[in-house]
Amino acid sequence: MTFAEIGCGVYRDGKRLATRDQSQSTSEAGEFRTWDPHHSKLAALILKGFMPPITDSSLVLYLGAAAGSTASHVSDIARRGLVYALEFSPRVMKNLISVCESRPNMIPIFADANHPETYSHLVDEVDIIYQDIAQRNQAEIALKNVKCFLKDEGYLILMIKARSIDTIANTREIFGKEVEKLQEGVSVLETVKLPQYRDHLAVIARK
Ligand SMILES: C[S@@+](CC[C@H](N)C(=O)[O-])C[C@H]1O[C@@H](n2cnc3c(N)ncnc32)[C@H](O)[C@@H]1O
Repeated sequence: MTFAEIGCGVYRDGKRLATRDQSQSTSEAGEFRTWDPHHSKLAALILKGFMPPITDSSLVLYLGAAAGSTASHVSDIARRGLVYALEFSPRVMKNLISVCESRPNMIPIFADANHPETYSHLVDEVDIIYQDIAQRNQAEIALKNVKCFLKDEGYLILMIKARSIDTIANTREIFGKEVEKLQEGVSVLETVKLPQYRDHLAVIARK
């Protein structure tokens, strides 16, 4: 494998992506960790040609971290920054905590993203909010968190899952409505379809 850096801390070899392992649990720190676009919408977005504005010192609020797979790659990239990894399912929280244990820049938060007031004492203002949550009110959740935590001119990266909002309506209509709602709180810069994820749209916006 010959990975070459394509942006801040992200490496590519043909269709393969990787970050450099920043975890402290193995002797492999600094080694390439492959990043599968079929299991990470953020990796799919990067392969589509969009480089997220995450730097090595970014503060990131990650909503819907699940077991921490994509969030751990974000923590590799933001190695001198911080990733607040928020999740509300007790089932996956255990795995998320164990991922965070070996990563000093990753903080697990067990909370519902609908209620930022319940974790506002734990989270500082951030440069980036990344949201990957399958709920009916995805734009509303994003805007609540933007209002509470995103710095002026900070970025929101939102993965919209149409079928969690409406199971039968036309996906273009669903995306259109969600983007319209988002415009009430952020400027939408770009929308990107992800070939690996049917009925999803990545939205990149700025406060
Ligand atoms: C599609 S998965 C996230 C996958 C993850 N982003 C990754 O790439 O590794 C969505 C996650 O969002 C969580 N979730 C859904 N609604 C939530 C809410 N209101 N607050 C916090 N987490 C939520 C789910 O429990 C689930 O683990």
